[in-house]
This record gives sequence, structure tokens and C-alpha cells, in this order.
Amino acid sequence: MQGFFLLFLFITSFSILITISTSTDTLTSPQILTTNQTLESSDGTFVLGFIPGINSNIYLAIWYQNINPRTVVWVANRDNPLQNNSNNDGFLKISDNGNIVLLNSSSNNNLIWSSNQTTVTKNQLVLQLLDNGNLVLREKNVNDPTKYLWQSFDYPTDTLLSSMSMGWNFDKNTEKHLTSWKTTGEDPSTGDYSFKIDFNGLPEIFLRNDENIILYRTGPWNGERFSGVPEMEPDTDSIIFKFSSNEHGVNYSFSIGNPSIISRLVMDSTGVLQRRTWVPSSETWTTFCVCDTNASPVCECVKGFSPKNEQAWKLRDGADGCVRNINLDCESDKFYHMENVKLPETSSVFVNMTMGMDECGNLCHRNCSCNGYGNVYVTNGGSGCVMWFGELVDIRSYSDGGQDLFVRLAASEIDSNGKRNGTAITIAIVIVATIIIAACTYFLWSWASKRSGQTPQENQSANLIRDAKQIKIEDLPFIQFKNISTATNNFSSANKIGQGGFGSVYKGELPDGLEIAVKRLSKTSGQGLEEFMNEVIVISKLQHRNLVRLLGCCIEGEEKMLVYEYMPNNSLDFYLFDPIKKKVLDWQKRLYVIEGISRGLLYLHRDSRLRIIHRDLKPSNILLDGELNPKISDFGMARIFGGTENEGNTRRIVGTYGYMSPEYAMEGLFSEKSDVFSFGVLLLEIISGRKNTSFYNHEQALSLLGYAWKLWNEEEVVSLIDPEICNPDNVDHILRCIHIGLLCVQEIAKERPTMATVVSMLSSEIVKFPSPCQPAFIQRQIEHRGDLPEQSENLNSTNSVTITGLQGR
Ligand SMILES: *[C@@H]1O[C@H](CO)[C@@H](O)[C@H](O)[C@H]1NC(C)=O
Ligand SMILES: *[C@@H]1O[C@H](CO)[C@@H](O)[C@H](O)[C@H]1NC(C)=O
Ligand SMILES: *[C@@H]1O[C@H](CO)[C@@H](O)[C@H](O)[C@H]1NC(C)=O
Ligand SMILES: *[C@@H]1O[C@H](CO)[C@@H](O)[C@H](O)[C@H]1NC(C)=O
Ligand SMILES: *[C@@H]1O[C@H](CO)[C@@H](O)[C@H](O)[C@H]1NC(C)=O
Ligand SMILES: *[C@@H]1O[C@H](CO)[C@@H](O)[C@H](O)[C@H]1NC(C)=O
Ligand SMILES: *[C@@H]1O[C@H](CO)[C@@H](O)[C@H](O)[C@H]1NC(C)=O
Repeated sequence: MQGFFLLFLFITSFSILITISTSTDTLTSPQILTTNQTLESSDGTFVLGFIPGINSNIYLAIWYQNINPRTVVWVANRDNPLQNNSNNDGFLKISDNGNIVLLNSSSNNNLIWSSNQTTVTKNQLVLQLLDNGNLVLREKNVNDPTKYLWQSFDYPTDTLLSSMSMGWNFDKNTEKHLTSWKTTGEDPSTGDYSFKIDFNGLPEIFLRNDENIILYRTGPWNGERFSGVPEMEPDTDSIIFKFSSNEHGVNYSFSIGNPSIISRLVMDSTGVLQRRTWVPSSETWTTFCVCDTNASPVCECVKGFSPKNEQAWKLRDGADGCVRNINLDCESDKFYHMENVKLPETSSVFVNMTMGMDECGNLCHRNCSCNGYGNVYVTNGGSGCVMWFGELVDIRSYSDGGQDLFVRLAASEIDSNGKRNGTAITIAIVIVATIIIAACTYFLWSWASKRSGQTPQENQSANLIRDAKQIKIEDLPFIQFKNISTATNNFSSANKIGQGGFGSVYKGELPDGLEIAVKRLSKTSGQGLEEFMNEVIVISKLQHRNLVRLLGCCIEGEEKMLVYEYMPNNSLDFYLFDPIKKKVLDWQKRLYVIEGISRGLLYLHRDSRLRIIHRDLKPSNILLDGELNPKISDFGMARIFGGTENEGNTRRIVGTYGYMSPEYAMEGLFSEKSDVFSFGVLLLEIISGRKNTSFYNHEQALSLLGYAWKLWNEEEVVSLIDPEICNPDNVDHILRCIHIGLLCVQEIAKERPTMATVVSMLSSEIVKFPSPCQPAFIQRQIEHRGDLPEQSENLNSTNSVTITGLQGR
């Protein structure tokens, strides 16, 4: 092989080099593509060319021609960059041995990267960039996809495009998967996360980190979708998901019926997997997290199990898992029917595709080491039999869209359930066997119309129902479904401006010209319904210029929608963490935003008729209107306090890591001071332009808070300030704000100021501030899982629990 390469290098160095001229989609030998040239696909969608990276590296890449900022979908030499310096320009060409090669021109045409294909042909070859983004090498006169000598679709980087596939080809013994960039947008070299199909049990896709630890699993394919991704709704956006698994290979891909829709599956450098769809009208990518590591469901043991280690459990470390309340007896055991779950991990299962459910259940019942069973596919009323002979790890429950699972429990557990049957809460997760379990659960609260008259046990739901009775929804203007449908162009994808686990957000215009944003609850969303009701209850009572205004709602049949005033400038994170867009936010604007948020929060805590704790304050929940006025949004998790209550306690910890105060994240205690903590984090993020959750300090493993604290003590805190806003005129003012931020994030809740004090400090009514004490969460917690919740990465404990479970520790 080595000799072969030397030989062709020798030959190529004598070739004549002709650069391509005008824009074209093909390159033929002996043409070359220099670093200042590009190929364009014939319909102009994609471009092949060279992009700059860090350290004056340059990479051969494919990106969308008409999308700004540049969105790269493929990189050739990700781990072998060229250097950008004037006398040393690389170029691309087709070598004489029939490969695409990237050469370093100044050093005897040193080989930087090669397509390494081995088919030999005498015919002339062309390199062509196709309209679907595939870069192919083919014989000039043969244009048959099955005869491509090489294609970039076979070597995915972090992006799966429509009609690209990932998986295994057993016949050719090849495999394709996604691997993140080191740093999204900056450094395309191979990053820490991979998303790869595993076919050990039932085929499914695993997200793993650099230590090969499984962070997330999609659940097996159930005939329609991955059982753990109920948001995969094939009809929306005319996306068709395809999955095949047979003796020739395992293959996942998607295609889009409407070619004008641009959508891709991408894994960012923090390990978050997202489907992103381009919205031409607003020139943004909408995001739908396939693996939403930011949502923080609570871990619960499944019915019949309790945490093995209560203490660790409270710290959200599920490592010890759950133990059975009552040991199994085998003969008399029964099966607990769980609906709409993501099936547990399948590495130790027995599968028979032709066996019926009855026989499957009988067989499982008779074999004492069988811990659960279910159908493999949900299509056509269900088919196939799968039985678990080990732990049932990482089960999740959804309100819709998952599938059925039967879990073995002692008969007495099932009987006790019989009596309690019909509580409004469904708990998920599970499992078993030798006793490890753990996974996360969504509490699913069924709307009263379906199961009226039952008494929920969990506080949150009880409160909701109580509140719902006090505040009649009829107080809120109802907007008819047909009017919303007209306003949003029938919920057209061009009007879609966002998507989350709860459903989609659409932009619309009422007949009087008023622009609105419509949050439409997806029918498969579990969390969304509870949050929907909560939001109606909380926000319909509030009015303040720094809170987003709810204009009305719509509940018709299955449809549930909230209608808000439209915010043309997106959310704060959209500006703050984008290297280009953040320039819009000079110091005056940032101060204006900080002050607005503080007044909105003060109103929630003190000035409104109700006392409200928001509980999920973060940049993506701060919307900006046309004048960049900040408006606090998303009251799905907010809690209303009665007259004398100051502090609440919940077993259901919801919120976002990085913004949750320590007492809330660890003990479920929340009060005004937990919002103050989140405000402090937000303030420091606004000033530094950096995200607490993805802040990375290499030497000291510090969080953004820890880093700020360190600089504060070293009297170096000026270097925390975002260079975009740092100038001698405002530096004193900014330092005062950092001081306020540090007071807000102090470890002890009592020592944090109230929002009233913060507002006075910001307006300089108070000039002398106390010295801050050490903030909470100063260390990154990755290596110390179990001590504190992780908060320095996008990955939250949903994953750590899952990981542990999957490793079977
Ligand atoms: C592109 O680069 C080549 C070689 O480095 C140089 O000769 C040529 O002038 C450049 N073209 C443009 C348009 O910059
Ligand atoms: C190489 O550097 C020059 C000068 O800084 C810049 O104009 C050019 O765009 C860079 N080339 C690439 C491919 O980034
Ligand atoms: C290209 O060649 C030059 C001169 O030999 C060398 O200094 C440089 O490191 C090479 N670049 C790469 C990326 O190999
Ligand atoms: C091509 O082969 C060479 C030599 O075996 C290897 O170093 C290089 O990584 C390969 N390139 C790709 C893109 O696989
Ligand atoms: C996988 O799917 C792609 C796209 O649908 C298809 O072109 C390819 O032939 C499939 N591969 C296998 C091994 O089934
Ligand atoms: C699968 O189940 C069917 C129906 O019970 C049975 O006839 C067949 O032998 C089973 N196959 C295997 C491999 O166990
Ligand atoms: C139970 O099933 C397992 C796995 O198929 C098998 O190894 C074991 O022999 C079975 N035990 C009995 C008692 O049938």
C-alpha cells in the first residue's frame, strides 16, 4: 500500500496543473481546485471549497451556498488540515491512480488527504458535486449511483443530510456514523461524541462520548420510529424516516418529500443531537432536539422499586439504581403493563419475530430469569416478541408515541396497583433484575377531561388542579382553531419558527395585522400538557412590559395552543453566544437587557397579584422584541406561592443545569432566591458572552462561576468581560454588575440579595455592596459525579443516570 502511494505521488508530481475556470459542478483531470476556488452543485444548493479553521488551518468542505452564517455539512481532511500561508497553497485534484487527493503544493506535492479508493479504471474520471450535497467520483461517461468509485456520503462527519444513510453494510463490511466536531463552527477535527448504530440486541443508535460511554440511546426501531424518540413525526415537514435491518446490513436515513425544505440531523460539539430545519422567512435554523440533554426529567424508580441509596438518589446520582420492594417468586409473579415507553436497552434479549404476544408472555412467565417482554414493532397492531433476561435499563415513558412493555413484578405489587389504578400520573423508568435500575421519568399528567375526578399524588399535579379550579380558563380569550390556522398559513413549515419537546412554534398574522407566535402542543408530547396548563394559569394573570404577553389560547378537541405576541428578535442566547451576532449587543443594550430582566423578575416575585417563582430562567427564555426589550417567557415550570409561603419543596426537579441553584438542584428546595441564583448566572453570561453550561477552562476544570470567582480573588475580573463590550468608559459600571452577579450566585441562599435589592443595586440607589462569598458550583463536576449535579456541560444527569445504568455498574 505504502509503495503504491509513493509510486502515484511520483507520477502526479509531473502532471500539468490546470485550474478550473468559472463556477462549475465538476472537476476533471488535469484540472485542479485551488484554495480560493469552489465547485457549485448545478442547482446552486451546495458548494465545495476550502474553509478556515483555528490556527490558520484550512479544510476541504461542503456547505450550503445560500445560507448565512456558513453551515458546513461535510469536511474531508478534518484531522489533517492544510496550512493557510501565502507561499504554500494546497489544492485538490484527481490523481493518476484514480483518487481525489489534496496536496500541499509547496513541498513536492505532499499528500494531505486521499479518497483512498482502490478501483482501477482506464476511463477518464470526474469529480462532481451533486445537488443533494454528495461529492462523487465517477467515470466521465457513467452516471449511475451504484457505480460511483467514491462518494462523500460514505464518509459522514457530524451531519446526516436527506438521502444520506448511516449504519452497517455487512456484505462490504463497512460502517458509517456521525462524529462531532471538536468545536462547532470552529474546529472540524474529530470531536468527543459519536452517534452510531449498534446491532448487538435490537438495532438502535447510541450516542457515546470519547470514553465510549453510552450517553443516550434512541431505543429500538418500532416500525415507525425509534421508540425513544416520540417526537419523530413522519408527516411533519414531509420528512420520511427509513430504517432497515436485515442480513445485508442495518441502515437509517431520512428523505424529504418537498425538495424546497432543507433539513439535517447534526451532532454538535457538546454532544447534543438535533434536527435543524431552515426557515427561509426568518433566515434561521429551527431546532428540534432528538436527544435533549437540557430537559431535566426527574429520576424515579418504576413501580415496584425504590432507590437503593436514598441519599445518592437525592443528589440525582442513580448509580446505585433501584431495588425491588418485594422479591420475585417466579410462579406467582405477574406482569405490569407500561404503555408508551422507550424499550429498555436490548443487549441481553431474546427476539423471535414470528411469535405472538400471548406465547411471548407465557414463555417469559415460565422462565424465572425473564424480567419483561414486549412487541418489537408497533405497526399493524404489533408484531414480534422480545424478552429481557437482564436488567431493564433506561426505560422512559411518554404520553404517546412509545410502545408497550410488560415488567415482571411480585403479584402483591400488581394487586396494590389495582386499587390505585387511575391516578393521573404515569411513571416511567425502570428496571430490574439484579437490581440496578435507573433512568429518568417523565411525569405525565393527563388532562382532567380524560380522567376526571381522580386524586393525583404528586404535589405538582395536585397544585395544578387546585389552581386550575381557582382560575377558570375561560378568563383567557379563546381564539378559534380556524383563525389560528388561517393566521399561520395552515401551520405551514415556512411559518414554523421553533420546535421543542412540547411541539412547534409558528409565526402568524391575524387579520388586523397583529403578528403572533403560536405554541402548538404536539399530540405526542408528555411534558407539554402539564406545562401548557401551568403556563395558562400563571401567565394569564400577569402583565408587565418585561414578560411576554399571552394573547389567548385555543383548546379544541386534540388541539391545544397558546398565542403570544410575536418577538421578532428571537431569544437572548441567539445573540449572546454567537460570535457575529453578539456584536449587536453593545454594553448599553446588555445593561438594558439586564435591567429589564431584573424588573420582570421583581414583578413576578413581589409586584404581581400572585407570587411566582419562574424556576427556569436562562437566555433561551428571554425573548427580544423589535427594540431589543427583553421579555421573560416560558412559564411552563413556574410555581405560584400562596400568601405566607416563602419556600417550596418538590420531588420533581425541573429546570436547566447550569442555572439551577444548589439547594434546588440537590434538595428540590426553591424560593425567590433560586431565581436570584439563575439571574446571577444569566448576568455573568451576558457580561462574559460565554455560556455557563459549556464553559471550559482547561487547566483548572472551573465552571464559568468558578472562573469568575478566581478572577475576582486575583483582582483580574476585568478579563471576564466580553472583549466586545470592554472599554475604559464602561469598565467600572461592568465591574459593579459582575459584583452583583457574584452576590446572586452565592452558595448560601440566605446571603443572596432579593430581586428588590438587585434592582436597587443596578440603578445605583445602593452604592456600597457587601463582598461576595464563594459561589456554588465552582468546579466542573464531570469527574465527581455523585458529589453535585453536573452543570458544566450540556449533558445533565439524565445522561449520567443512563450511563451508569447502561454500564450495569
Ligand atoms: C487563486 O490562487 C492562485 C494560486 O494560489 C492564484 O494564482 C490566483 O491568482 C488566485 N485567484 C484569485 C482570484 O485570487
Ligand atoms: C487564507 O488567508 C487569507 C489571508 O488571511 C484569506 O484571505 C483567505 O481567505 C484564507 N483562505 C482560506 C481558504 O480560508
Ligand atoms: C506543507 O509543506 C510545508 C513545506 O514543506 C510544511 O512546512 C507544512 O507544514 C506543510 N503543511 C502541511 C499541512 O503538511
Ligand atoms: C488513506 O490511506 C492513508 C495511508 O494508508 C491513511 O494514512 C489515510 O488516513 C487514509 N485516508 C483516509 C481519508 O482514509
Ligand atoms: C441504505 O439507505 C440508503 C438510502 O436510503 C440506500 O441508498 C442504501 O442502498 C442503503 N444501504 C443498505 C446496505 O441497505
Ligand atoms: C419463533 O416462534 C415460532 C412460533 O412460536 C416458533 O415456531 C419458532 O420455532 C420460533 N423460532 C425460534 C428461533 O425460536
Ligand atoms: C430461560 O431463558 C434463558 C435464555 O433464553 C435460557 O438460557 C434458560 O435456560 C431459560 N431457563 C429456563 C428454566 O427455561
